[in-house]
Amino acid sequence: MKVAVIGAAGGIGQALALLLKNHLPAGSDLALYDIAPVTPGVAKDLSHIPTPVSINGYSGEDPTPALEGADVVLISAGVARKPGMDRSDLFNVNAGIVKSLAEKIAVVCPEACVGIITNPVNTTVPIAAEVLKKAGVYNKRKLFGITTLDVIRSETFVSELKGKNPLDVNVPVIGGHSGVTILPLLSQVKDVSFSDDEVAALTHRIQNAGTEVVEAKAGGGSATLSMGQAACRFGLSLVKALQGEANVIECAYIESDGGLAPFFAQPIKLGKDGIEEVLSYGELSAFEQQALDGMLDTLNGDIQLGVDFAS
Ligand code: NAD
Ligand code: LMR
Repeated sequence: MKVAVIGAAGGIGQALALLLKNHLPAGSDLALYDIAPVTPGVAKDLSHIPTPVSINGYSGEDPTPALEGADVVLISAGVARKPGMDRSDLFNVNAGIVKSLAEKIAVVCPEACVGIITNPVNTTVPIAAEVLKKAGVYNKRKLFGITTLDVIRSETFVSELKGKNPLDVNVPVIGGHSGVTILPLLSQVKDVSFSDDEVAALTHRIQNAGTEVVEAKAGGGSATLSMGQAACRFGLSLVKALQGEANVIECAYIESDGGLAPFFAQPIKLGKDGIEEVLSYGELSAFEQQALDGMLDTLNGDIQLGVDFAS
């Protein structure tokens, strides 16, 4: 397997590259690309870690050498939030970055599975889809918005509140990746019950957890290390499934078959060709159903913005 990290010199990219260097299966190739000239140096640094994963770093204007032969491309290229900003404020810069990277992917590695981290995810994923469609290489089973950070935050916050081992807690998160579009399905957490107040407070905290980090970093950026961990979890799941492991399930923001919105985050089963099956998100509580109904205008607006931009 070859995994390419695009935006690899950034806060997320470096954390993700470190984790992948340590955890990709033996024999994998890791390629790092960033416009920042330090990127070959980041790869050189990581290359001294004794794991059976080869690593190369590329900088400059052209990501082609990193993308060539890639099975998985993880994109965290772009700008991050500062206090007072919303994820949608990143659109002006990041939309163009994702568009031009998707144009390259369409030519160099059209068969690759592509995971997008760059915000606003609700909009950047539809942009990539439109670009790949225009190039005639779109495969809805191979394009993902990475929402795993919402899942790991939910698992952490629930386990803290309920005194559980976080490794035993599983929380599906559906919708999208910003504000009210992030909907943790707390009613589906096994062996735990919540009061109505706890559900309201936890849901609010999970929806605003990105802002919690942005404010704590006080102008120094947004979540990088937890996102590196989240993207590594998703990337390793993808690699395992591509290599034939069965029953690999994650939540991700994907083109949806349902009538709620053209793209929607929900549980999926991964397989040898990307998404093997889109899984039902199951029954919702009254609180969750109301939250789902209430997010749809926002989510559909975010998606339309991406479609309009790409065309
Ligand atoms: P960062 O500024 O630390 O790193 C971004 C990197 O992208 C920089 O090294 C920059 O040189 C590089 N870059 C810019 N344009 C590029 C291009 N055209 N090609 C290649 N590289 C390019 O930012 P970060 O903290 O790593 O965050 C990156 C993105 O991830 C932001 O948009 C942020 O909002 C988003 N993010 C998403 C999630 C999520 O859950 N999906 C979580 C955290 C952050
Ligand atoms: C997050 O959820 O931490 C990221 O989307 C970054 C941000 O801007 O909040």
